[in-house]
Amino acid sequence: MNLKSTLRPLAGDGQRLFVETYGCQMNAGDSEIVVSIMQQEGYRYTESIDEADIILINTCSIRDNAEQRIWGRLSEMRRLRKQRPALIVGIIGCMAERLKAQLIEKDCGVDIVAGPDAYRDLPNLVRRAQGGDKGVNVELSKEETYAEIAPVRLDKSGVSAFIAIMRGCNNYCSYCVVPYTRGIERSRDPQTIVAEARILFENGYREVTLLGQNVNSYKFGEVGFPDLMAMVAEISPEFRVRFATSHPKDISDRLLEVMARYDNICKSIHLPAQSGSNEMLKKMNRKYTREWYLERIAAIRRYMPDCSITTDLIAGFCGETEEDHRQTLSLMREVGYASAFMFKYSERPGTFSARHFEDDITEQEKTRRLNEIIALQNELSLQHNRQEIGKVREVLIEGESKRSAEQLCGRTTQNKMVVFDRGEEGAGEYVKVLITDCSSATLFGKIQK
Ligand code: SAH
Ligand code: SF4
Ligand code: F3S
Repeated sequence: MNLKSTLRPLAGDGQRLFVETYGCQMNAGDSEIVVSIMQQEGYRYTESIDEADIILINTCSIRDNAEQRIWGRLSEMRRLRKQRPALIVGIIGCMAERLKAQLIEKDCGVDIVAGPDAYRDLPNLVRRAQGGDKGVNVELSKEETYAEIAPVRLDKSGVSAFIAIMRGCNNYCSYCVVPYTRGIERSRDPQTIVAEARILFENGYREVTLLGQNVNSYKFGEVGFPDLMAMVAEISPEFRVRFATSHPKDISDRLLEVMARYDNICKSIHLPAQSGSNEMLKKMNRKYTREWYLERIAAIRRYMPDCSITTDLIAGFCGETEEDHRQTLSLMREVGYASAFMFKYSERPGTFSARHFEDDITEQEKTRRLNEIIALQNELSLQHNRQEIGKVREVLIEGESKRSAEQLCGRTTQNKMVVFDRGEEGAGEYVKVLITDCSSATLFGKIQK
């Protein structure tokens, strides 16, 4: 052991770090990496903002309203800094990458700006900020995957965890800011992924979700996404594997075949369609047609008749006609989505669509279309859930239900939340549950002995 390094006083010296996370699961995973990096330098994580010496806000830029929420938080931070002058506030993540030094120039009360590939530099940026300078690092990297950093699990449920298997995105969907905020696609060494998953299993976790903006284009040397899925699924039949998000262009037969082969690979696919109109799909640069997408849905059904399919949809993209909108509604009916994330188009500065197309659908019209999409999805979700009534499903218990301590909740392989009366079993155990009732969001059932 190197004595010098063990005796070296750590820069953090027990100072307390608070991290607030917005945006997608990738950001949640990144916050866990940030805490790990900072802990190694002697900073301590705290769940209380009141006792923090350093506050990092991990931000999202995906839609304008995501950024507006963060601006609101920043004015709150300015107020906090007046009360606690030694407090260091940092903006990290996608909005930091998008706005860069502007965040400091605008006098937002921010000391540190760090993009998603600059987290190893955070201890250094904090030191600089404490020395009175501003710390900015928004370099994007072609290689950084934080592969060997063991994330500090901030979600204490201890049943289900996420592992980032790749970073960045090369798809350049015309509306999307992610390729600019997260840089180019790169995959992480599969050995480090499997090792991390195995540790989760050994620590009692029973489910892992492999994460990336575009997980199914994962490629590391000879190892493709289906191979990686199989490697993780082999850890134990008691260990469920999920993934998010997949791009329709990469849902290969080989992946479907591997999913069908392993019972512990969950039968649920999130396959964002964005629109049902070929005209819109082309303008969105999604690289598939409605017909091609529907053929992939048919393939999923061939391999896994019981697989649930969920999606993302955008209402009111540039030039979207009433007919285009109708096509989205008809696609939804044709697929029969189990659930969906639905958004109004929000123009993001610098993207292809912001530069080349007019954001010409009025806010009022976007709202009307979105509401129609949401109403239809509620109907479809309810229909989907009703079909579950009478079936017995294997449920992985996640913990107490939100409504009552007498009830537990957990998910089926199709990723449906089930609420049921408590038996002897607890979080992390599998139970068979007879589905007896449902709402559009939740299933209700009884444990079967
Ligand atoms: N990488 C994932 C999703 C990333 S963002 C994928 O491609 O599927 C999550 C969702 O936000 C997208 O699927 C899309 O539906 C939505 N989204 C992205 N940019 C948007 C924008 N500018 N306006 C509205 N919704 C957007
Ligand atoms: Fe954005 Fe498209 Fe990449 Fe998803 S695939 S992150 S929507 S550019
Ligand atoms: Fe938001 Fe960045 Fe995720 S823009 S959705 S936090 S990749």
